[in-house]
Amino acid sequence: MNVEPRILRSGDDGLKDRIEALGPWFHNINLGGIWTAPDHFLGDYPSVKFQRFAPHLPEDLSGKSVLDIGCNAGFYSMEMKRRGADRVLGLDHDDHYLAQARFAAETLGYDNIEFRNHSVYDVGSLGETFDVVIFMGVLYHLRHPLLALDLIHEHVARDILIFQSMQRGSRQVMDVEEDYEFEETEHFFESAYPKLHFIEREYAHDWTNWWAPNRACAEAMLRASGFVIETRAEDEVYICRRAEMPYAQYLRTGAVYPARGKI
Ligand SMILES: C[S@@+](CC[C@H](N)C(=O)[O-])C[C@H]1O[C@@H](n2cnc3c(N)ncnc32)[C@H](O)[C@@H]1O
Repeated sequence: MNVEPRILRSGDDGLKDRIEALGPWFHNINLGGIWTAPDHFLGDYPSVKFQRFAPHLPEDLSGKSVLDIGCNAGFYSMEMKRRGADRVLGLDHDDHYLAQARFAAETLGYDNIEFRNHSVYDVGSLGETFDVVIFMGVLYHLRHPLLALDLIHEHVARDILIFQSMQRGSRQVMDVEEDYEFEETEHFFESAYPKLHFIEREYAHDWTNWWAPNRACAEAMLRASGFVIETRAEDEVYICRRAEMPYAQYLRTGAVYPARGKI
């Protein structure tokens, strides 16, 4: 089912001013004929990326709930609504982006998407699980990326995870043995071994880029936090299913930062 948006404000003279006042935009969205980020360094983003992995997503999301973590201006939240999702909750920790998301959704006539200021670290307080969790473009901005994946697994993911991370380094993925002797160190020098590059200062003029996994690492982190990769739907995008956390039998408790209750 495809729910087409109604353009509510086409021809509104104040629209361009409102879009400018809410800038700068990271998501390039067509709001009544006016693009929000026409000069985006990645082109028509994220539309160009979405077109590459969209065919791998369920076409009909009616009856489903979606959580979009790090929703920014709501591009993916609105796309999930277009696929008929019942409930869509977009989270971001930045009010600037949430204001854009609310304005874009209102302008395009999506009046039943909820956008909330909420950090990925606080998903434990939502008290709700979702059929589809979108976690795109956020992992490498976090100081504690594996904790975030653990929290998503523990508290909000019920079935599908749509994941994306910037990747740097080798695109090769080597077969890693189950275990190695203490004296064996060669594999750590392999570029196709899972590696998470730590960025102490800045990358691409952005101090919030803390980590850059290579492909092997992004995939290993997903598995290690209990997500089975079903499809690599695009260079950096994975469609996963929630499964049992590896070593679950040894873990006394799941990830619970900062608390299970209301914050
Ligand atoms: C690169 S943008 C990705 C936006 C969108 N998900 C996409 O793929 O196009 C990263 C977004 O994550 C948000 N973000 C960063 N850290 C976050 C956190 N701890 N909790 C929630 N959102 C966060 C940022 O504010 C920003 O909107």
